[in-house]
Amino acid sequence: MSEFDAIILGAGGAGLMCASVAAQRGRRVAVIDHNDEPGRKILISGGGRCNFTNLGAAPDRYLSANPHFARSALSRYTAQDFLALVEAHGIAWHEKTLGQLFCDGSARQIVAMLMDECAKGDVIFRFGAPIRDVAHADGHFRVTAGECTLTAPALVIATGGPSIPKLGATGFAYDLARQFRLKVVEPRPALVPLTLSGDDALFRTLSGVAAPVEARCGGAAFREAALFTHRGMSGPAILQVSSYWRRGQAVAIDFLPQATKGWLREAKRERPRSRVSTLLNQQLPARLAETLAERLALDGELANLADKALETAEQRLADWTFMPNGSEGYAKAEVAAGGISTAELSQKTMEARTVPGLFAIGEAVDVTGWLGGYNFQWAWASGYAAAQAL
Ligand code: FDA
Repeated sequence: MSEFDAIILGAGGAGLMCASVAAQRGRRVAVIDHNDEPGRKILISGGGRCNFTNLGAAPDRYLSANPHFARSALSRYTAQDFLALVEAHGIAWHEKTLGQLFCDGSARQIVAMLMDECAKGDVIFRFGAPIRDVAHADGHFRVTAGECTLTAPALVIATGGPSIPKLGATGFAYDLARQFRLKVVEPRPALVPLTLSGDDALFRTLSGVAAPVEARCGGAAFREAALFTHRGMSGPAILQVSSYWRRGQAVAIDFLPQATKGWLREAKRERPRSRVSTLLNQQLPARLAETLAERLALDGELANLADKALETAEQRLADWTFMPNGSEGYAKAEVAAGGISTAELSQKTMEARTVPGLFAIGEAVDVTGWLGGYNFQWAWASGYAAAQAL
């Protein structure tokens, strides 16, 4: 039986950050993971370049039953703090768009950096070790994983959420939380493509067509690209609103977010011989323009169309509603929304209020970031917050 000051379950972004910081504060730390290597989600993230943070990281870019919960951790370990670490390790980076920072080279550099930081504090790793049992008695946690048994007065749940099971992702964090009687906000796939059926299925024939749109759902709005797929809709704008989407809700798309009010009636005055399909063709990919024009059923030259009909068409193009019948699920979701309830945790230390010594960090917790480096920033910040208390 090996004794430590803290045992961290999960060698993903949150677990590695927490382990390295706690170990460098002099704590004896062990990290357990059932995968054979650390940070598999980091390795495939950002198309292999890891969108490791976002300069705009702030609590209002995270979904949680308690929208203020993330504030404390995010303010004590910022995007600039992580960037300073990246630079100290000589990793070249660039800002792609909307504050999103990526490695110039490879996501492997981020994993190597975190492992290097762990090595500085002599963190002990147990890879390929499925966790068989977690027990708690006399102020100590006892974890049986693979062939070994470890004990410590502190246990950190950093096993993430169930999205992309083929990378070793599981719902273990939720089971463990329930074992300790912590509430779990019903998890659901987020940052995930949505599927279309019925009347909307026609749009699936546009598979591969992308356009810059404004997508809206559940009070959120994102101006980014949407992409039609053979199953429905994807692309950054759709992934973003998918986190807000609930079954039975509509997703509204503004296909011409730059258009000014009354543009179709104005076009009628200026170019009375034009057709709606021609005007749409000038602003949208041809196949999408064609499909929208067909659905609007406005044949003939603008001069022959009533102003009222043009106004209705304009409104429809600005607020085209789709009724997704589902999402592509955890197999395709970038994250799981929901998770261990923030009501159970201290926002300063991430420690469970009712179980001293038990911590939860990263995606396992009910804090879910927008697309664009926000989820890693939460993993770093929550891992750092817990490490200060270990
Ligand atoms: P994470 O899932 O990374 O780590 C959990 C660890 O626990 C894993 O190593 C797993 O093997 C281990 N584990 C799970 N169950 C276990 C069990 N029962 N026993 C033992 N070990 C267990 N975010 C972002 O900000 N920028 C980006 O570019 C991307 N890109 C991206 C692409 C893709 C394809 C995906 C799927 C996700 C992203 N993300 C992202 C999201 C990001 O990867 C995610 O939010 C973080 O990895 C979460 O970090 P955690 O450490 O909390 O969990």
